[in-house]
Amino acid sequence: MIQNFDYQTPTRVIFGRGVVEEKLVEVMRPLGRRVLLAYGGGSIKRMGLYQKVVDLMKDFEITELSGIEPNPKYDPSVLEGVRLCKEHNIDVILSVGGGSVLDCCKAIAAGAKYDGDPWDLISYKVKAEAALPIVDIMTLAATGSEYDAGGVISRTETNDKIGYIDEHLFPVCSFLDPTYTFTVNAKHTAAGVADAFNHVLENFFCADHNMVSDGFCISILRTLVHYAPIAIAHPDDYEARAEIMFACMFGCNGILALGNSPSGWPMHAIEHALSAYYDITHGEGLAIITPHWMQHILSDRTEERFVALGTQLWGIDPHLLKEEIAQLAIDRTFQFFESIGLPMNLRKVGIDDSRLREMAKHIKADGMQQGEQYVPLTEDEIVEILTRAL
Ligand code: NZQ
Ligand code: ZN
Repeated sequence: MIQNFDYQTPTRVIFGRGVVEEKLVEVMRPLGRRVLLAYGGGSIKRMGLYQKVVDLMKDFEITELSGIEPNPKYDPSVLEGVRLCKEHNIDVILSVGGGSVLDCCKAIAAGAKYDGDPWDLISYKVKAEAALPIVDIMTLAATGSEYDAGGVISRTETNDKIGYIDEHLFPVCSFLDPTYTFTVNAKHTAAGVADAFNHVLENFFCADHNMVSDGFCISILRTLVHYAPIAIAHPDDYEARAEIMFACMFGCNGILALGNSPSGWPMHAIEHALSAYYDITHGEGLAIITPHWMQHILSDRTEERFVALGTQLWGIDPHLLKEEIAQLAIDRTFQFFESIGLPMNLRKVGIDDSRLREMAKHIKADGMQQGEQYVPLTEDEIVEILTRAL
């Protein structure tokens, strides 16, 4: 049955070839003159986007924050960004890059309007009262950060990787030009697809669902399954890159869960510990965990979700026994990830069995709020899933 909901996504999305040249200045002008231009390790310079943005923004006063790493770090990136915003009295943040750059900008945006330690906000000790406006130009399709109010920040010394969500953090405007994703390599293209695929599953596996949200979910999964191999084989195929970018933007902003009961996002809770401890690529960690989590939660109660996935996404014969369809749905998911070149066990991304228990404790304490989980997991069960994934 459809549950009551209250939903708003305030972000303006401008999608398509050439939209940055067309509208960036028009969008930025009313937000202020002093801009923090934030980016990662240099991919935007190599593809010429950095120079394009600097040329377009010639009438603005630009301060730069560069070197934001994948799994963006509180120290130095968030702290440095907050310092720059305060010192230069920044009006608006322009994020140019993937999800890591944008997530970092979200934490900076809130920190810039707060007098204390920004970690107070990220750790939910203090609720943000305001944030600087953010505009982003996405160069990688994956997270959906461009259309949601969350950012994920890592704190190396405590092995924390926290999803920081606050309604002040929705970007004001996101520019999605698929041509800027042509240079994303096969590894990150596949990881991005696995991330978006998993976002859908995190929404799909819940007790109360409805036909509308199921339809959104299956449509996005079909798109990813169809276009991922094309984008990997032909990185500059506009249609493939555009379809993937469009599909990814819906991952995390709640639209896929409208009317549903909570799922608890268990695979993300597990993966965030893996990338907090080992700094691995988020989408690769998810691809490894997904089939093992699915296998673990398969039961009479959950079987119906697997059957829906198997028949509607993978086209499995609905006349087969339900348990056969469910098992095939898991197998096909594994095979899809493997077919697009994703590493499918933990050892392949440098994780051995030495810290599984420690991570499981961390996941239970931080990432999982048991009350909201579709299938609650004990610490031992998390260890079991991680062990199977080795
Ligand atoms: O740093 P640069 O040089 O830009 O290189 C990046 C980085 O090495 C490169 N890249 C990006 N665009 C490129 C490109 N290389 C060539 N051409 C381009 N056009 O790709 C590498 C990975 O970038 P990153 O931003 O880390 O990837 P992604 O967008 O997948 O972001 C991952 C982060 O987002 C978090 C993850 O946990 C992870 O920290 N997530 C954020 C979410 C959200 N805000 O809603 C939800 C997700 O579930 C996820 O947890
Ligand atoms: Zn994700």
